[in-house]
Amino acid sequence: MKRRTVLKSGLAALTLAGIGSTGLSLLDKAGFISTARAESFTTPLPIPPLLKDLDGSPDSARFAMTVGRGSVEFFPGKATATLGYNGNFLGPTIRVRNGQRFRIAVKNNLSQVTTLHWHGMHLPARWDGGPRQPIPPGTTWSPDFPIKQQAATLWYHPHAMGLTGEQVYHGLAGLVYIEDEVSDQLDIPKTYGVDDIPLIIQDRRFFGDGQFAYVQNMHDVMNGVIGNYLLVNGVMQPTLKVPGRLVRLRLLNGSNSSIYRIGFSDQRVFHVIASDGGFLETPAAMNSIVLSAGERAEVLVDFTGGGTLLQVEQMKGGSFTAMRITTDGNEAGPARIPNHLRTLDRIPESEASGVREFIMETMAMGGGRMGMGMMGRRLTINGKKMDINRIDERVKLGSTEIWEITNRSAMMMSMPHSMHLHDVQFQILSRNGQLPPPHERGRKDTVLIMPGETVRIISRFHDYTGVYMYHCHLLEHEDDGMMGQFEVVT
Ligand code: C2O
Ligand code: CU
Ligand code: CU
Repeated sequence: MKRRTVLKSGLAALTLAGIGSTGLSLLDKAGFISTARAESFTTPLPIPPLLKDLDGSPDSARFAMTVGRGSVEFFPGKATATLGYNGNFLGPTIRVRNGQRFRIAVKNNLSQVTTLHWHGMHLPARWDGGPRQPIPPGTTWSPDFPIKQQAATLWYHPHAMGLTGEQVYHGLAGLVYIEDEVSDQLDIPKTYGVDDIPLIIQDRRFFGDGQFAYVQNMHDVMNGVIGNYLLVNGVMQPTLKVPGRLVRLRLLNGSNSSIYRIGFSDQRVFHVIASDGGFLETPAAMNSIVLSAGERAEVLVDFTGGGTLLQVEQMKGGSFTAMRITTDGNEAGPARIPNHLRTLDRIPESEASGVREFIMETMAMGGGRMGMGMMGRRLTINGKKMDINRIDERVKLGSTEIWEITNRSAMMMSMPHSMHLHDVQFQILSRNGQLPPPHERGRKDTVLIMPGETVRIISRFHDYTGVYMYHCHLLEHEDDGMMGQFEVVT
């Protein structure tokens, strides 16, 4: 089996461990803390700081960031070892504009290799930050490329071969905001941390001693490491005060492998204004939205009628009251939802030079020779596991292609996958032959594919040549090899 993180696992069947002021924590059979925390909602939601632009000129932005170790007391009195960018957990928000030259120096202060991948960014392959661009311990990596895409909420996270899940779990993730003349001009909330709120939603599991219970045994690889505690911007059950009017929430499912349904306790309707790659043409009214690992959505929520609770439900697992939202009492008139956001340059199917097929599959393997109950399962794309020395697909520079992705589920092995492509923002043509729902009709870089489902996407492969990844964004699947490489060639 592949390498795994060695962490001590509390094997005692049922243990009581003091966790200070919140009382006693009960450990389950596997040694994970399982106490339901007393609903507190006292910690204010932390807003990741905006990373300082060292250039500050309109056409160029320059940043510096350090990856290092940290420690957080998620349970009072227990220090959890974490990783963070410029801090203990998660990282600052990087804000840039379309058309700007973007430079950043990323220093790796860890004792292991990492990378920094720009999820959702259209960029030269050498600055993608995937497994092909390792940042060895003690070194600095300095990408330098132009921002060439419309306003969107992207994110960054490590992507070193076999280490993505573990490093993200320990805290490595942050947001990238791209702004442009459309996001400037739209009459929507845009004051960072006041009425334009980033929400990084993740779940975690802890050992009795408070450490993250990140293990990659066969069960956790297949199902993903699913947590029984929910964090918003790195905090359990925070509370957020917003103005009593229209507020914009930028949602990121930053979990390793969970699929979330996100909504509010009072079922209030909100309006989705952006998907992974930026604004939709028109807002989509919903009262809950499903986001798979890696997906984002921007939503407008009306708080003229007061606060509510943010509810997050895992597709496999629990249901969480994730955050309390209160209003500052300054309720102002009826909120206006714009009826047009931006005109999208839709990619016509007729432009595609061909269709490539991808089968995401879980196959049974083992038995016989493997013996000892090692009957296993194998996660593949087109029957293959990731090999960094193999190019799986060659795509012609300047071409447009349709990729038809099927989640083929063998009996008893059905699981959802979250397909992600580097470098491009695609458009979903269909889900099982049907037009996708309105909130999935904008630009996307990650798409949930349920067992048995076939999703057709269309994309332009413009501007840059080189090798990029496509993979399942359930990070345990990705680390296990559910990933391939496409090369854009002239
Ligand atoms: Cu968000 Cu290849 O990753
Ligand atoms: Cu990516
Ligand atoms: Cu998967």
